[in-house]
Amino acid sequence: MSHLIAPSILASDFANLQRESEMLDKSNADWFHIDVMDGVFVPNISFGMPIIKAIRKFSEKTFDVHLMIVEPQKYINDFKNVGADILTVHYEVCNHLHRTLQEIKVAGMKAGVALNPHTNINVLEDLIQDIDLVCIMSVNPGFGGQSFIENTYDKVSSLKEMIIRKKANTLIEIDGGVTSNNARKLLDAGADVLVAGSFVFKSDNPIKTISELKTV
Ligand code: DX5
Ligand code: ZN
Repeated sequence: MSHLIAPSILASDFANLQRESEMLDKSNADWFHIDVMDGVFVPNISFGMPIIKAIRKFSEKTFDVHLMIVEPQKYINDFKNVGADILTVHYEVCNHLHRTLQEIKVAGMKAGVALNPHTNINVLEDLIQDIDLVCIMSVNPGFGGQSFIENTYDKVSSLKEMIIRKKANTLIEIDGGVTSNNARKLLDAGADVLVAGSFVFKSDNPIKTISELKTV
């Protein structure tokens, strides 16, 4: 499978979400990466269900929703109802992660698990076959525009090795500080999906930047 690009709308112009969504829709982006923050799990508040519902009408591309919130299990059906296709919860906030993943799948979505930079991939050893997507945070979650943490490459290779050894079909997504400078090395380490916020939306020509990341 060739790799996927998921621009993060966190870095987009919120006053022009229709225009930004239509731009992504006609670009080579594969997914929309949508960052929901609650001000509790992370020290920032972004947006929630009404915004996702509002932009859903501008594209049929996959909506990859990254929940940086506590108690994500409370809102599974709400995110399904506003159009999420993939729902990713953080390992660090789930006491019953296996149950939460099953509930996401029963609701009709793909189930993802995100790991903070300090969380070792070994914690997923016993449930990797139940996970559709692992989102490796390559910055501390909460803000766009931070610098990439170099230890990520080793985490990606170790996770890839686990996925192969366990015969799982899990995709590896990298989130935070992704640019055309580290994209190739991440893909070589085993990444399948690259999230990019600032690198895409703060560039002069986002459509061209997305194409560059797609063909890196
Ligand atoms: C960080 C978010 C990321 C962020 C990435 O908490 O999960 O998705 O938007 O932004 P950049 O690419 O600017 O690091
Ligand atoms: Zn994210």
